[in-house]
Amino acid sequence: PAVTVALCLAAYLFGSVLFALPVCRAWKLPDPRAQGSGNPGATNVYRTGGWAPAALTLALDAFKGWLPVWLAHQLSMPVMAQAMVALCAVTGHMIPVFHRFQGGKGVATALGAGLALAPLTTLIIAGIWLLVMWRWRISALASLVAVVCGPVVSAFLDPETLPLFGLLALLIVVRHRANLIRLAQGRETGF
Ligand code: G3P
Repeated sequence: PAVTVALCLAAYLFGSVLFALPVCRAWKLPDPRAQGSGNPGATNVYRTGGWAPAALTLALDAFKGWLPVWLAHQLSMPVMAQAMVALCAVTGHMIPVFHRFQGGKGVATALGAGLALAPLTTLIIAGIWLLVMWRWRISALASLVAVVCGPVVSAFLDPETLPLFGLLALLIVVRHRANLIRLAQGRETGF
């Protein structure tokens, strides 16, 4: 249990690093929290900086979800403990201790954590994201549809991970409140 607690704490702290910020600084882009949707995430970096910094933000934010769960897996922790580590990483991104608890929406970090814990389930969810994105070009809509499908996919493929995908869906939908309102009003900005 001590190792689990330590890894949860480490996952939260690493999750609290918002990679959109150093990436934007490196590209001499404005702070994403003051631009576009105001979200420090890959989608909003894309709005000001295009593909390259957005892809790097996505990769790094996913990596901080993937690494601690991969470590938990290497340490042969039970699936429930791995799921807790995943939740801590995503929580770090959403309510980061290093940024006055004002973080992002957790989609990329959940992607990385999911890939480490339940790769096939997560790849299918990512496929749903891509399909919605390809059809409607609205990242928030793709994220919402994909994460809501997550528990359904995991129930079929990885029932053990269902509680994690259920909680992730709940947290990520709540973090998309502003996007939901804009979507309902037809004002959500596309990609
Ligand atoms: O992953 C975040 C995405 O779903 C929405 O981002 O910047 O459009 O609010 P944004």
